Amino acid sequence: MLETKNNFPLTLLNTFKLTSRCDLFIQISTLAELKEFISLPEHKTARKRILGGGSNLILSEHIQGIVLKNNLKKIEIDKAKETADAYFLNIGSGENWHQFVSWCLENKFYGMENLSLIPGTVGAAPIQNIGAYGLEVKNFIFAVKGLHLNSGIEKTLTNSQCQFEYRNSIFKTAAYADFFITEVSFQIPKKNSLEYSYGELKEYFSTVTPTPELIAQKVIEIRTRKLPDLEKYPNVGSFFKNPIISKTQCDELKAKFPTLVSYPYGLEQTKLSAGQLIELCHFKGAPMGTFSMYEKQALVMVNLGNGDFSQVKNLADKIIQTVKNQFGVTLEIEPLTW
Ligand code: EPU
Repeated sequence: MLETKNNFPLTLLNTFKLTSRCDLFIQISTLAELKEFISLPEHKTARKRILGGGSNLILSEHIQGIVLKNNLKKIEIDKAKETADAYFLNIGSGENWHQFVSWCLENKFYGMENLSLIPGTVGAAPIQNIGAYGLEVKNFIFAVKGLHLNSGIEKTLTNSQCQFEYRNSIFKTAAYADFFITEVSFQIPKKNSLEYSYGELKEYFSTVTPTPELIAQKVIEIRTRKLPDLEKYPNVGSFFKNPIISKTQCDELKAKFPTLVSYPYGLEQTKLSAGQLIELCHFKGAPMGTFSMYEKQALVMVNLGNGDFSQVKNLADKIIQTVKNQFGVTLEIEPLTW
């Protein structure tokens, strides 16, 4: 029997701690519960949203319709699929991401250690194609399984069908707004290649022999040092995407601003550091109302009190406008907005 809660507060269920309520709140802990929910005629026309760890969401004060809290748990080694080259793991979408990465390390399924300590759930990882320290989760995703809440249609998408890009996938499109990811299948190569080309990792491992365990340790150390503690400074990680511009535009900008950091992105494009652009526009550590861009990493917006959506929007708009005026580059908000 599904337990429903009316006019439910979401403030403690989002890592930005934005003041927010939804009309109806339902926990989903099993596939049977999810199917029961879909079968109920009274929920057919309502707007439905799926909440994982709440770590990549900007919530408005009143969320109309239904919020389903994903609690689906499962960790399965898929022996039948195993090949000479790879292991396969089927993981429940409600599992905690970092706990899963740690479990992989303990069980010698190596490769994802660069993605240690990213907040959120396994089901949220493919949505924005989480990435850090030179790796993206798309490198390890074999398939994503789920169902559309409005039609009940079940689907399994292959890696290429997920249309993964930098912080983007098919799951961010309108056609998948009602898609409840139930399980993610991972393909873990047996012959593991370690990735430590990212600045600080490269420097550290120039004198230390890298192992998956040491990479995880170092990533955890860097993240803890650079990124704000969620308990003290509620946040949603990077607030903007790093902007991708043409090489030509980048060359023109660098002629004017020689210190600009840039990374090649494909053959024709370049990725700039949004954090640096924000810092150069003097927003770093400068509070506006209840919100500020974090003093040690300007890409992360932190909530300093009991802020709400309208205040977040004020600061975001001001930053987007200032960066546009100064650099001619349009910043895009990274987390999903409800
Ligand atoms: N920088 C500044 N000032 C700042 C922040 C950054 O000048 O305040 C410059 C520095 O030169 C630095 C460069 O930007 O060398 C890159 O900074 P950093 O390594 O901190 O990474 P980022 O580009 O700001 C991205 C991801 C993070 C991920 C890190 C590490 C995005 C939107 N963000 O940040 O992901 O952890 O790289 O790989 O791509 C997230 O998505 O929520 C997230 C935290």
